[in-house]
Amino acid sequence: MAPRAPIGIFDSGIGGLTVANAIVNILPHETLFYFGDTAHVPYGGKSAETVIRYSHDIVSFLLDQGCKAIVVACNTASAAALASLRHTWPLVPIIGMEPAVKPASSATQTGVIGVLATRGTFSSERYANLVDRFGHGITVLENPCIGLVELIEAGLVEDAITENFLQQILTPMLDKGADTFVLGCTHYPLVRPLIERIIPPSATIIDPAPAVARQLQRRLQHLSLLSDQRTDDHRFFVSGDPHAFHTMAKRFFLADFLLEQHLIY
Ligand code: DGL
Repeated sequence: MAPRAPIGIFDSGIGGLTVANAIVNILPHETLFYFGDTAHVPYGGKSAETVIRYSHDIVSFLLDQGCKAIVVACNTASAAALASLRHTWPLVPIIGMEPAVKPASSATQTGVIGVLATRGTFSSERYANLVDRFGHGITVLENPCIGLVELIEAGLVEDAITENFLQQILTPMLDKGADTFVLGCTHYPLVRPLIERIIPPSATIIDPAPAVARQLQRRLQHLSLLSDQRTDDHRFFVSGDPHAFHTMAKRFFLADFLLEQHLIY
């Protein structure tokens, strides 16, 4: 596999752009091929089997495009499908993500953390193991934020409706003493400014995207797969409406890109 080959990255929709931005920040010589599965967003309420099927189809497509590595820029897909993706493609570096319970457990002063993720992530074995390992001696408050991904996909990231929604989720957590908040879904950093308006400035917000980008960098370095030069445009593929996605990607992705609609189902 050539170092200048693209990196494949996917999410159910625009959430993975928060991870793509973190990658572009530290690895400017890499080319990203991003797949947004907007025909099926949200993943959060779907069965693990369904999310596994979507994830396999997308990774298969990205590898057909010549990608040298895959970033699962979605906590829900990582929770459901990461093990089976790695099993199916053992030679491909596949980077996944998980809610940052571990760093949150070190950061909290009050011993209470709030985790915002999706139903799929919370009901996974991977998440249960995470809390088993790092949740000892602290209180882990969870909220699946049902409907938040849809608000974000609709572009309502600065709107009163979304702020009220977040208020309903965060206020009970603050009342119970939470001082550290884990953004356990890649869509949620897009409403970070609203979250910051609700929680006190002394509270900590943990977005794992920069850590995922660093992990990718380490893996590529280890495999001598880091690119020294970008030879292609970043390319975006979307299974749903390309126009809506284009508008959102222009708004949230830091770099220029080409967009294609791709129906893989
Ligand atoms: N952005 C995804 C995640 O990190 C999925 C959200 C969804 O589609 O429900 O979990």
